[in-house]
Amino acid sequence: MTSPLHGRDFLKEVDFTADELGALIDLAVDLKAQRRQREEVQRLQGRLIALIFEKTSTRTRCAFEVGAYEQGAHVTYLDPSSSQLGRKESVADTARVLSRMYDAIEFRGSAQSTIEQLAQFADVPVYNGLTDEWHPTQMLADFMTMREHSPAGTAFNELSYAYLGDARSNMGNSLLVMGAIMGADVRIAAPRDLWPADEVQELARTHAAISGARLTLSESVDEAVAGAAFVHTDVWVSMGEPADVWDDRVRLLRPYRVTADVLKSTGHADTRFMHCLPAFHDMETTVGRDVAERSGLRDGLEVTSEVFDSPANVALDQAENRLHTIKAVMVATLD
Ligand code: CP
Ligand code: NVA
Repeated sequence: MTSPLHGRDFLKEVDFTADELGALIDLAVDLKAQRRQREEVQRLQGRLIALIFEKTSTRTRCAFEVGAYEQGAHVTYLDPSSSQLGRKESVADTARVLSRMYDAIEFRGSAQSTIEQLAQFADVPVYNGLTDEWHPTQMLADFMTMREHSPAGTAFNELSYAYLGDARSNMGNSLLVMGAIMGADVRIAAPRDLWPADEVQELARTHAAISGARLTLSESVDEAVAGAAFVHTDVWVSMGEPADVWDDRVRLLRPYRVTADVLKSTGHADTRFMHCLPAFHDMETTVGRDVAERSGLRDGLEVTSEVFDSPANVALDQAENRLHTIKAVMVATLD
């Protein structure tokens, strides 16, 4: 039977209904169980997938590669230094050429308009591996993980989560809008200058009016986390931003770090910590160490080591679920 999502692009959350997103997550749950039982059925044998990464990646690249291999497909990895994209060949021409050789194209880059153009000129499904605006494959993994760490039978519209930090980047936008589509209780806490753009807030409100989602944007951490079952954060400076914004960002976001006190202040018995990763939670990275030394935040930036190293942290389950959800996107659109 052909999947209802066969041939579709996966560019941003709002292109899909709550039922379609839920079906992708259910498929990922099935694929995860098959893999654990060593009973995975290969549904993508002989398929070919181009992976274009204009920005660096560990999880997303590995999830596409491992997901493809396990399903019997093959991939080619392209980055700006080893391809013509951008400098010598337009996005449109790249899309037309790759469509003659591949069954699907993944793209990670800066502007959402670039991937939209790639999809417009490609004859095969195009997947968004992250843009400055959206991180939709991450949302499938995040919602899968939140459901896994909720009481059995919890529906997506019963999830409540807070996001603290830089909320006008891909993760803040996606967590707000995905929650709005799925009918969740979404709370964002950030300084007003770092709230999602007005158009993103408007988009979220439009979807919330249909789904019944409850959306809170606040400058108060206490208000945002009260009763939340999950507390998310992300790096304070995203890929593509200049390094010299770090000091100002630390000044703005220092009150929004995820600490043990923040998790306690939810009042929820079992609040879990989530992070798309990579995270600055110790002195083991060059950037983390430099910023920690300048700011004095030696026990972590956006999250403390105490929280990261605690049983409340489910970010590694979240990272593993990137594999199952990205595999689900490939299977649903290509099988
Ligand atoms: N969360 C995420 O997208 O990780 P990578 O940047 O390692 O792909
Ligand atoms: N906001 C981060 C997400 C990384 C997965 C970035 O764009 O760098």
